[in-house]
Amino acid sequence: MAGKITPSMMCAPLDKIGCYVKAFEENQVEYLHIDVMDGQFVPNLMLGTAYISSLRKITSIPLDIHLMIVNPESKLDWFDIQPGEYVSIHYESTPHVQRALQTIKSKGGKTMVALNPGTPIEVLRYLLPDLDGVLLMTVNPGFAGQKLIPQGLDKIRDTRKFLDDMGYPQIEIEVDGNVSWENIPKMAAAGTDLYVAGTSSLFNDKVPVEESVKRFRSLI
Ligand code: DX5
Ligand code: ZN
Repeated sequence: MAGKITPSMMCAPLDKIGCYVKAFEENQVEYLHIDVMDGQFVPNLMLGTAYISSLRKITSIPLDIHLMIVNPESKLDWFDIQPGEYVSIHYESTPHVQRALQTIKSKGGKTMVALNPGTPIEVLRYLLPDLDGVLLMTVNPGFAGQKLIPQGLDKIRDTRKFLDDMGYPQIEIEVDGNVSWENIPKMAAAGTDLYVAGTSSLFNDKVPVEESVKRFRSLI
């Protein structure tokens, strides 16, 4: 099945958000990736609830909300989750992972657990029935513009095999971090379904956005 593109909106220059969103709509981009950071789970602050509600006012592209916050289970009401949107919570951010997934599902959201680079995929074993997707960080969370952690590619392959072997081939794999023109084909070959497009691919001002989206689509 062809891959899906979810551009990382924290990488969009403020003065160009409107034209990026318009180009994404015209080129059927599937989701918009929204990095929410609280300065506790990760050493950065990013994209709050006001940003999300403003973005919803200018586009109907479904959001793919990546929560890099502690104890997300008690904050899910803040994001006005719409049916069909992805919401990812970090396995490492709360003892109440399953409860958070239940809440996302009760709001009609699609559930995703995000794993930091060093977290083994086996932690997902007893969460599989509750999952629509798994988000694999191929950089350490908190900042754009970082380099791929090399073992991340093997982790994509291992995750695909783990999900298939456990009888969950429908669970999608999203990859987040240095999804560059060079890395995309390798990530695709390893079994990626959703690609978080950031500073090393779509948000590269030298090329018109439409051209970048078409090039991205040709690689996945
Ligand atoms: C980092 C975020 C990523 C980041 C991707 O914590 O989760 O979405 O914005 O940026 P690049 O593609 O530059 O690594
Ligand atoms: Zn992200």
